[in-house]
Amino acid sequence: MRRLLIIGIGAGDPDHMTVQAIDALNSADVVLVPEKEGKDGLAALRHDICRRFMTRTDWRTVAYKVPKRAAPDLSYRQVVDDWHEAIGDIWGRLLSEDVKDGETAAYLVWGDPSIYDSTLRIVERLAAKGDVAFDYEVIPGITSIQALAARHRIALNTIGGPIHVTTGRRLGQEGPGTADSIVVMLDGELAFTTVDADEFDIYWGANLGTESEVAIAGRLSEKSSEITEARAKARDKAGWVMDTYLLRRKDNGAKE
Ligand SMILES: C[S@@+](CC[C@H](N)C(=O)[O-])C[C@H]1O[C@@H](n2cnc3c(N)ncnc32)[C@H](O)[C@@H]1O
Repeated sequence: MRRLLIIGIGAGDPDHMTVQAIDALNSADVVLVPEKEGKDGLAALRHDICRRFMTRTDWRTVAYKVPKRAAPDLSYRQVVDDWHEAIGDIWGRLLSEDVKDGETAAYLVWGDPSIYDSTLRIVERLAAKGDVAFDYEVIPGITSIQALAARHRIALNTIGGPIHVTTGRRLGQEGPGTADSIVVMLDGELAFTTVDADEFDIYWGANLGTESEVAIAGRLSEKSSEITEARAKARDKAGWVMDTYLLRRKDNGAKE
């Protein structure tokens, strides 16, 4: 039986690697390395982590090109579904051809695999197909949400209050509703500019844990353009930008 380890590596800082993640990495004979066009910064972190934490010498990498997602002329869900299927097919081939029976393969997931990451859905689907027999295990990692909260020294919830986690796309389409604490990820469209700026404070961070990290907090009405500029600068510096933020409805005990 082959074994696949899905390892959360943290949100950009190699120091986010947990002892459990380092141990899991060192139990791998093979590390699967995705290669995405134009995302060298992200691939670099995976390589740094292997160089820094792999203590065994008899491991190998297997690189593969991540297929491009189709343009969304079908429904968004259908496009993502087809894309997962295509990646699953590649993984199926890699597992049966590049990983021997009895060996362990590792796949390093940015942040933690439980949040806005397709890996576990792809793996579940692959396991259900049954073309290649494997067992899999998940090792948790520090998410960008935790990195954001630590950077700003804040709790994400108000006392006893819920946290709404969403994407920039949905915030833009649906608005903030009545939520007091909204965590926004995957926001390529500056969705914070679509909410009533007088209602919220913002705790924002881009490229957290990396050399191009930038973090800004304050009244949304005062910080919106500063964040927009800082985001563009972070992208220029690193060649990529990923940002996460908490919108906190005012007068709700931001630091409780
Ligand atoms: C595909 S999701 C991956 C989330 C990841 N699984 C996690 O646990 O954070 C990518 C989104 O995560 C957030 N993100 C990831 N790394 C980040 C970082 N270093 N700084 C700020 N946000 C980050 C951004 O919202 C980005 O659009």
